[in-house]
Amino acid sequence: MQNFILIKFSFIWSIILILFIHSINTKNIKYSKQNKKEKESFTDNYYAIFINNTLSTSLPKTTKNNYNKREEIQKEFVNSLINEIHSLIVENVNTYDNPNKIEEMIEKDKLRKRENHQIDSNIAFHLSSINNRSVIGAYLSNDLINIIKNYQGVYDVLPNRHFEYASHSNSNSNFNYNFNFNSNSKSNSYYNKNEIIKETKWKNLAIKSNTDNHLSIISQGKYNESIIEVYDNNYYYPSSGGENIDIFIFDSSFAFDYYEFTNNENRITKCISILSTNEINPPQSEKRCHSMFSKEHGSIVADIAAGDKHGVAPNANVYGFVLEDEATFFSVIKELEILKNDHGSLFRKNKAVINFSFGSFFKENEYTSEIEYLYDLIQQLNDKGAIFVVCAQNNSQPINNKKEKEILYPCYFDNVICVGATDNLTYDSYYNNEIIDKHPYQLTDYSNYGEGVNIYAPGFVTYEIMTQYYGLKNDTISGTSFATPIVTGVIATIMSENPNQNYNYKTMLTYLQEISLKNIVEGVEKNHSSNYFINNGKHVVYSKNKKYHGCGINAGNQKCQKNQCCTLDGLCSKNKKLCLN
Ligand SMILES: *[C@@H]1O[C@H](CO)[C@@H](O)[C@H](O)[C@H]1NC(C)=O
Ligand SMILES: *[C@@H]1O[C@H](CO)[C@@H](O)[C@H](O)[C@H]1NC(C)=O
Ligand SMILES: *[C@@H]1O[C@H](CO)[C@@H](O)[C@H](O)[C@H]1NC(C)=O
Ligand SMILES: *[C@@H]1O[C@H](CO)[C@@H](O)[C@H](O)[C@H]1NC(C)=O
Ligand SMILES: *[C@@H]1O[C@H](CO)[C@@H](O)[C@H](O)[C@H]1NC(C)=O
Ligand SMILES: *[C@@H]1O[C@H](CO)[C@@H](O)[C@H](O)[C@H]1NC(C)=O
Ligand SMILES: *[C@@H]1O[C@H](CO)[C@@H](O)[C@H](O)[C@H]1NC(C)=O
Ligand SMILES: *[C@@H]1O[C@H](CO)[C@@H](O)[C@H](O)[C@H]1NC(C)=O
Repeated sequence: MQNFILIKFSFIWSIILILFIHSINTKNIKYSKQNKKEKESFTDNYYAIFINNTLSTSLPKTTKNNYNKREEIQKEFVNSLINEIHSLIVENVNTYDNPNKIEEMIEKDKLRKRENHQIDSNIAFHLSSINNRSVIGAYLSNDLINIIKNYQGVYDVLPNRHFEYASHSNSNSNFNYNFNFNSNSKSNSYYNKNEIIKETKWKNLAIKSNTDNHLSIISQGKYNESIIEVYDNNYYYPSSGGENIDIFIFDSSFAFDYYEFTNNENRITKCISILSTNEINPPQSEKRCHSMFSKEHGSIVADIAAGDKHGVAPNANVYGFVLEDEATFFSVIKELEILKNDHGSLFRKNKAVINFSFGSFFKENEYTSEIEYLYDLIQQLNDKGAIFVVCAQNNSQPINNKKEKEILYPCYFDNVICVGATDNLTYDSYYNNEIIDKHPYQLTDYSNYGEGVNIYAPGFVTYEIMTQYYGLKNDTISGTSFATPIVTGVIATIMSENPNQNYNYKTMLTYLQEISLKNIVEGVEKNHSSNYFINNGKHVVYSKNKKYHGCGINAGNQKCQKNQCCTLDGLCSKNKKLCLN
């Protein structure tokens, strides 16, 4: 037991007492042979230990006065538990399935501790605190779990739950897809700038011409090839483009030193840190960072959210956090802890969009403490105006799956925006991957769906990234992972256009759904609480060759002849009944 900075305060005796009791009970516990089944379900692993801190604050007032703050008392309490757990581990190496591994970890810790005199170690460390709760991470054997569960203040011990990322499999090198292959009309006059400004109320209009479908499809109303002769593949967006808005991305790798991110010297794009199960390390460099298994996922996500050519919000700031391992409960709450405790230098009130690409199904009553804790932690950041965008994952099932009694978290939380993917593209291999079937609004066969999903966005994107070893790479890829940064980007442009509005999760979701295209997602019931397709506020649909076969906003605001009206379907008709609204 090392923690005795505290000894000068009288109340500490209560804690020391607790600690002693633990030690006496636990020293050299005999290795009890469990039955095989039990042994298999819990092996040596990292566990989250949930602490109820209320205990430490209910001490007599007089002793409390020795501390400035409730947090300080709680901190000491947590530290004493960390030390206690550390000692417990050191004294009970024989309970581990693999004692050599734990011995090795302990040795490493000894070195580290001598170097920087810290409480935290590789085998027991503080992860996060909110209100009256804290989470400690520790590497435990099955026997130790049961002992720690009985510690005073500990209300749960759970394995460090893994989350999955969701990209989809197909990836088609170097081909660009377009709804209409002969759409190279050079004339720009087919769109009407004033009309767009009037509808969107944007301060200034910016345009990316002849660009990717994942961009053009979100800046126009429903495209219908029977009334629009040539698909408009421009992306229209407010010229603020996410300026002064911070997008935080936690993913596998980032590169910010090529043209997709050097377009605007006034924005900040940089790597912040590399997170592993028990450590936070600085990135390899500010402009390039990657995990040990450098994957491209993070770079693609950043490009779609905020790249100059392929991104929805090309002026937004992007902060990259590398997750060294898979996303787990530990790494996720650690990321959020960094933002929560960073008082304004990174995390700015009402300026942050945070997109989560991970999630997992949880069985009913499973991992409840982890789910509740994650919810409350997100809520604390929500209260400061952060907006979380989360992907609905790719298991082709309802996110609240009543039949299997399982729910997808964090997407199902009512304090995050949960995004599903559309696009139903059929490739014709004979014609060299040209798309022969085009259903941009069709729910994909891989996306999850159902109650709890808040909005859908295209899941099929084109990107250009700087890879770690092979230089630039152009490609296409699909997955709910890539629908998420599209919504993230749209949110950033809305926030940059309205810098004085303090959006929060609720007001942003309401606004997004208001400007989205309603009831057009095929494969989702009409009027379903999730049937919204992402749109950035520009709804007029233009035809690139100015030829229309209809009227109204879905056909370039074309007017009908004098004795006709424009029907809800966008056709001119003499039957006024069809034109109500
Ligand atoms: C923590 O303890 C307090 C008081 O003992 C209790 O009211 C509260 O429900 C506990 N919280 C948790 C998460 O167990
Ligand atoms: C828990 O913490 C909050 C402050 O964050 C405090 O208002 C509340 O009274 C605490 N609850 C208990 C049971 O101590
Ligand atoms: C979902 O994404 C994961 C992670 O990329 C991948 O391993 C899996 O094959 C995908 N599943 C489907 C149905 O596409
Ligand atoms: C943003 O979303 C992408 C894809 O869904 C994901 O890979 C990335 O980790 C997310 N960013 C954050 C901050 O989680
Ligand atoms: C694609 O869309 C068409 C038309 O809506 C439909 O018949 C087909 O089943 C869809 N395919 C997938 C994989 O969703
Ligand atoms: C990627 O595509 C762009 C055109 O969109 C082209 O200029 C560039 O050379 C391509 N890069 C690679 C590596 O293919
Ligand atoms: C959807 O809601 C509208 C308005 O409430 C209603 O008129 C319409 O019948 C509903 N459609 C379906 C398919 O339920
Ligand atoms: C396209 O427009 C035509 C004419 O208004 C209409 O009959 C048809 O239903 C529309 N198609 C879709 C997919 O909305």
